[in-house]
Amino acid sequence: MSTLLCVNTFLMFLIVSAVRGCHPGCHCEVESFGLFSSFSFTKVDCSGAGPDVAPVPIPLDTSFLDLSSNSIRTVTDSMLTGPGYTTLTSLDLSANLISEINDKAFSKLRYLESLDLSHNSLEKLTSGCFSGLPLAEVDLSNNRLQELRLDVFMAKGHKRPVSVDVSNNRVTMVSRNPQMSPPNLHSLTLAGNQLYSVPRLHGIPVQYLNLDRNPISSIQKDSFAELKDLVHLSLNSLPQLTAIQPHSFRDLSNLQVLNLSNNTGLTSLSPEVFLGLASLQELDLSNSGVNSLPNNILSHLPSLRRITLRENVNCWRTKKQEQFHRHIEQTNSDEVLTCDATGIFL
Ligand SMILES: *[C@@H]1O[C@H](CO)[C@@H](O)[C@H](O)[C@H]1NC(C)=O
Ligand SMILES: *[C@@H]1O[C@H](CO)[C@@H](O)[C@H](O)[C@H]1NC(C)=O
Repeated sequence: MSTLLCVNTFLMFLIVSAVRGCHPGCHCEVESFGLFSSFSFTKVDCSGAGPDVAPVPIPLDTSFLDLSSNSIRTVTDSMLTGPGYTTLTSLDLSANLISEINDKAFSKLRYLESLDLSHNSLEKLTSGCFSGLPLAEVDLSNNRLQELRLDVFMAKGHKRPVSVDVSNNRVTMVSRNPQMSPPNLHSLTLAGNQLYSVPRLHGIPVQYLNLDRNPISSIQKDSFAELKDLVHLSLNSLPQLTAIQPHSFRDLSNLQVLNLSNNTGLTSLSPEVFLGLASLQELDLSNSGVNSLPNNILSHLPSLRRITLRENVNCWRTKKQEQFHRHIEQTNSDEVLTCDATGIFL
């Protein structure tokens, strides 16, 4: 409560002012807030300035840098260095022609939390290219990536440390360091790439994952293993998707929204597909090939509130009408899915 009051007070003192020494072709703004303008950050907008804009000198306390729509082809090691870059928290490189990112291109951006590389021509990312950055949000949508390996976030040449367990006369290698994955990555957008399978993201704390518009043909039992923090999963417009294996979502106990819309090749779903989705509230199956649902679907989805089955056809969890023998019924068994169109087979 007191934090909220403080924020309000600070916002009343928000001052926006122009910056001297702003690079020609860019637009710079300082936002100061807090009593006596005690906090400030600088936004530098160089979008549409042309391919020669980078490397661009930026003011010392720059937080946001927008380099979108500049026809940049390669992110070189020296492009994002110099004073100002060490304080960047957000970098927008979207809508360029980037097909190559040099190994150390981002290595100076120690505070970078948000990186937008969407709408470029990336076919692959070298291992370690995002290592050491505290990235929370990464947008790689609309590129040509065929895979995304977790080692892009890890130091190059860094072997997973193992210890050897020789108890019981058996030698087993035990992986010791679960912290190898990016500990802050909450949002990952990979829509519109060339991914043929779900990338292995095991154990990262991602909450929002978008894999729309990829040529993924099937979803396997371990596709989403260990993604227990996932809240929103978007898997729509996967033209090759024909099957989702039972138990595919079983680790996703915090998932609230599952979007499977516009998967026309997906014609059936077994009840076991939904096992483990204890928090799922919304399931979108609109414009998919699935026309009927398992009639015991509710028993697997205790938190479900709404299913969208076709365009404008929604189903809700409701209580059954008066029943005989109500007192001997199990909890939940008096709930049914009610849809706002007739002819839905449940
Ligand atoms: C549905 O998916 C197809 C590809 O399978 C795509 O061309 C179309 O734009 C998608 N429609 C919507 C509404 O996303
Ligand atoms: C699912 O995705 C489609 C296409 O992006 C969107 O229109 C729809 O609102 C989404 N559904 C939910 C429940 O978020």
